[in-house]
Amino acid sequence: MQTVARWLADRDPHTFPYESVVREYHRVGKHFVNKELLSDLDKARAGLTDQTAGTGPLAPFLDAALDKYDGRYDYLTYIGVLLLPLPSRGTSAEDVTEALRRRDRLVSLLVTDALRFELAAIDNGPTFLPQMPPDDRIVAKRCRLGLRVTNVMLDRIGAGPSLTREEPVRATCYQCDAVAADSSAAERIALRLSMLPVYVIHDEYLFIRVLQSFEATFALLVTQLGAAVRALCGGDPLTAALLLDAARTALHESAPLFSLLATMRVESFRLFRQFTDGASAIQSENYKAMESLCRRPDAERLNSLAYHSVRVIRRRILEEPSPNLQDTYLAAVAEDRITPAQAQALDMAMNRFATVLGRWKVTHYHLASRMLGDATTGTGASEGTPYLRKVAQMPVFTHPGAQK
Ligand code: HEM
Repeated sequence: MQTVARWLADRDPHTFPYESVVREYHRVGKHFVNKELLSDLDKARAGLTDQTAGTGPLAPFLDAALDKYDGRYDYLTYIGVLLLPLPSRGTSAEDVTEALRRRDRLVSLLVTDALRFELAAIDNGPTFLPQMPPDDRIVAKRCRLGLRVTNVMLDRIGAGPSLTREEPVRATCYQCDAVAADSSAAERIALRLSMLPVYVIHDEYLFIRVLQSFEATFALLVTQLGAAVRALCGGDPLTAALLLDAARTALHESAPLFSLLATMRVESFRLFRQFTDGASAIQSENYKAMESLCRRPDAERLNSLAYHSVRVIRRRILEEPSPNLQDTYLAAVAEDRITPAQAQALDMAMNRFATVLGRWKVTHYHLASRMLGDATTGTGASEGTPYLRKVAQMPVFTHPGAQK
């Protein structure tokens, strides 16, 4: 607290005491941070000029750190979305190769960091978030599942050690060293500042890293599906089909993240969930942007909590709609702009993507049901698992020939 108060005297954004603030948040959990510290952070934010706000992570960090204090805590601030180098940031919408590289790199960093936290808990005893630490067996399982997510990504970006023959805990130790050595200062800061759990339960660390990893993948899918729509509009249906297949692969590769998250203890989840009310991935803009690039949501869904929770996306669909895959495909067929063979290739690619997204929704529903048990409401104010069951049954595409 004193370090922030001292910093307020000269307010140089380059010397902001991030480390002390993060340590205090980790000591008590975001929900229980002392009012005096919050008020000093609020003063720090009030002193940000446009110039200082535009440079460095101070503005996005304070945005995430002060969400509960301001009464605007939500999913985006919970996972510190503005602090993450998401694939869609700093990349041209056309550059799907660069977006994939950024997703691979970010997910590798996030998952490796989650595993590093696991290993630290069994090596030295809990460093922070001391409640309900994992045992050796759980950590070994997390290492095995985490490596399953990162192996393919690290291979693709050429940043990973080849570890397939090692047993998972030892392999994870090597991977932590290799990834840390390869990461930039900016990436290390992004990792450190984007971890502000609401309480002091060990497993919340894994929960946040998995949410962030999925968010990175959704952001990649938005880039890939957006490029597919443009290819189709531009008369290149086969490139559109290839991009759809790339999106399907990217989503498929992230599926083991659910297995990793399923190692979270139900009792742990229920404890920290008491303080996450108001933050739900129903507020994920990337997820809804991805969904609405497939087809325009039905009026009922657009006017429900699903889209009222993502106002920016909803407004865009209503006020400045951009082309989506299904409408563009139907128009191309109706106007004879694509051959029957091309239409079939595209149709099959759409169905393959729909299958993987459908599987994602069903897995999500099962995991949520196990974690929530009889709890009837979600943290995003929906009716909870009945909402998810309904969403899982909702078709990704509805054109004739689409898989139902
Ligand atoms: C403990 C694990 C999880 C539980 C208990 C859970 C629970 C829920 C619930 C109840 C909802 C409905 C909205 C509400 O909160 O009221 C929801 C929505 C959603 N969740 Fe999860 N979830 C979990 C993990 C995840 C993960 C890892 C992701 C990946 C980002 C995710 C992504 C989503 C998305 C995108 C929605 C919105 C779906 C839509 O509106 O169609 N969830 N979740």
